[in-house]
Amino acid sequence: MALLEIKNLHVYYGHIHALKGINLTVDEGEVVTLIGSNGAGKTTTLRAISGLLKTTEDTSVMYDGIELRQLRPHQIVEKGVIHVPEGRRVFSRMSVQENLMMGAYARKNRHQIADDLAYVLKLFPRLQERRAQHAGTLSGGEQQMLAMGRALMANPKLLLLDEPSMGLAPVLVETIFDSIEQLNKQRGITILLVEQNAQMALSIANRAYVLETGRITMSGNAQEMLHDEKVISAYLGL
Ligand SMILES: Nc1ncnc2c1ncn2[C@@H]1O[C@H](COP(=O)(O)OP(=O)(O)OP(=O)(O)O)[C@@H](O)[C@H]1O
Ligand SMILES: [Mg+2]
Repeated sequence: MALLEIKNLHVYYGHIHALKGINLTVDEGEVVTLIGSNGAGKTTTLRAISGLLKTTEDTSVMYDGIELRQLRPHQIVEKGVIHVPEGRRVFSRMSVQENLMMGAYARKNRHQIADDLAYVLKLFPRLQERRAQHAGTLSGGEQQMLAMGRALMANPKLLLLDEPSMGLAPVLVETIFDSIEQLNKQRGITILLVEQNAQMALSIANRAYVLETGRITMSGNAQEMLHDEKVISAYLGL
């Protein structure tokens, strides 16, 4: 059974039919990437999973045997579905440490929280160095680390990442993608990764879906898609 199984996902923004019946699965332990150009509907897909958007009655979003469409966003978070939004919104007037602890606000086990904090600070040594610094003064790459660190503090089972590489220098893109691989391998966190950087996303993913104007137009093994002519010409800019 898939950890996440989306069937016939439709989203409308007024008259705009943004998602036109998406079907997608993510198995436990997988890294699955959803790639596509600007406006394809990637962010909309993640926001629909997180319960932030209205979906049509015939849509089904099953996660771990539960229909997420019946839950409120905070209940979806409590089930371990944690969303790192596009543009990494950190609490800019709070310190790095306070931002990280905000991620754990709904949890009770202090020992586990302390362990997870130690893990995050080891995964992102930059955050360790800047624990007391206001988040608003961090660089873009550091803010992305913080947004991901805060998500990890919520003890995710399924992590939804919206364009973590956006606007980052190549060396930082490498760092971020390395950390995504690590938390999948070391912590067993299942990942649904939305990216425009198809090259990087396909290189770390198990499987991939291509989204074009609200429809899945291609799907399959990520390594195979890296060598697929259509994917290369449309998304790998070669
Ligand atoms: N709040 C909104 N109101 C109206 N239309 C919207 C809204 N949000 C998104 N859309 C439209 O829905 C479509 C999908 O947008 P979405 O943000 O999901 O794309 P995306 O694939 O994430 O793009 P990008 O790579 O630029 O982030 C676009 O045509 C967009 O203009
Ligand atoms: Mg987007």
